[in-house]
Amino acid sequence: MRTQVGIIGAGPAGLLLSHLLHLRGITSVVLEKRSRDYVERRVRAGVLEQGTVDTLVEAGVGERLLREGLPHHGIELRYGGAGHRIAFEKLVPGRSITVYGQQEVVKDLIAARLAAGGDIRFEVEDVEAHSLESDPYLTFGGERLDCDVIAGCDGFHGVSRPAIPEGVLSVYERDYPFAWLGILARVAPSSEELIYTRTERGFALHSMRSPTVSRFYLQVPADARVEDWPDERIWAELKARLESVPGFTLTTGEIMEKGVTPMRAFVAEPMQYGRLYLAGDAAHIVPPTGAKGLNLAVADVRVLTEALAAYFADGSTGLLDGYSDACLKRVWRAQHFSWWMTTLLHTFEDEDPYARRLQLSYLDYVTSSEAAATTLAENYVGLP
Ligand code: FAD
Ligand code: DHB
Repeated sequence: MRTQVGIIGAGPAGLLLSHLLHLRGITSVVLEKRSRDYVERRVRAGVLEQGTVDTLVEAGVGERLLREGLPHHGIELRYGGAGHRIAFEKLVPGRSITVYGQQEVVKDLIAARLAAGGDIRFEVEDVEAHSLESDPYLTFGGERLDCDVIAGCDGFHGVSRPAIPEGVLSVYERDYPFAWLGILARVAPSSEELIYTRTERGFALHSMRSPTVSRFYLQVPADARVEDWPDERIWAELKARLESVPGFTLTTGEIMEKGVTPMRAFVAEPMQYGRLYLAGDAAHIVPPTGAKGLNLAVADVRVLTEALAAYFADGSTGLLDGYSDACLKRVWRAQHFSWWMTTLLHTFEDEDPYARRLQLSYLDYVTSSEAAATTLAENYVGLP
């Protein structure tokens, strides 16, 4: 079997890459170890930057996103007994974000690929990448797929990054001493906009998916298990953190899904080796406070598509050679923003009273200075 681009992983990165390549007349095969049902149900991110929305719409997979996605023109920062709105329309005119679940993006992309006769293999076993320097190929479940280029879109725990010989990659990482417990609940959102809350009990985030489904996150200890968090405990803790301003009441409902996500930052450089190109979580992870993970994956894929289009058009390798450098600028900006948002809003066990006062002072600055608020807004909606 032969294709031009062998793609490992049917997450947002792998699926979007396959779709964008198809629009340029470039063939690909996507190899995914999970089932279609599993990847379509996996609840993860929900905030799409303007650039991500534009990419999906321009690629012809934005119809449901434009119909069902929820445009947002601001977020609330809540701390010290008050809420403060970061108003995108004033601070970064014309730019906004759209709330639309990652698994909906995945469903839309799978549907588009299959409708166009695309080749996605689900539940493939033992994918391995070989001969990365030249004539690369993939093996899986006793089969072999020869390709010109391999795209490693298999997330943080995938096989593509470890296939790169030792000593090639520089790795930068940080583990945070806490995790996020995320839930999806069948209840109307209690707020029109996202609320990022800092309290002495820890961070909480109120997000949503639709007029009848809400999404929440709680800062929990790094070793927290879902079993430690029965529904009543989750609602009690969300109330204790979110009902920290007068007049705000959190409406509770049936919890449909729960999961604990470790908080980690990670970058592997360069994002390429020989004929293997890494995209999305396979190359970098951010703590989710800045809502950047999915958006970075889409940005990588945009760059990789242009580079591959040039390569397959006339054999030019300039853009491919510069792929990693072109992506890493945005990746590091997002790393800094995500670290900054995380540091601003979470409680750290080992922090002394001095550090706590600094954090509150910075929050006061961000919510009172237009320049500081603009920095937040500009990064949150995403750099062009
Ligand atoms: P992934 O979505 O991880 O896709 C990789 C795909 O590769 C998966 O389908 C996987 O099954 C497949 N795969 C892995 N190994 C193999 C293999 N050996 N062979 C074949 N296939 C393989 N970001 C936010 O902005 N906000 C959030 O709230 C948020 N929550 C998250 C919760 C969790 C549990 C995780 C893991 C991530 C979360 N993120 C969040 C980050 C965001 O979801 C990711 O940045 C985004 O999914 C990256 O897309 P991707 O396609 O690069 O990787
Ligand atoms: C969501 C996730 C995030 O990481 C974030 O910062 C905001 C919203 C969400 O899943 O809705």
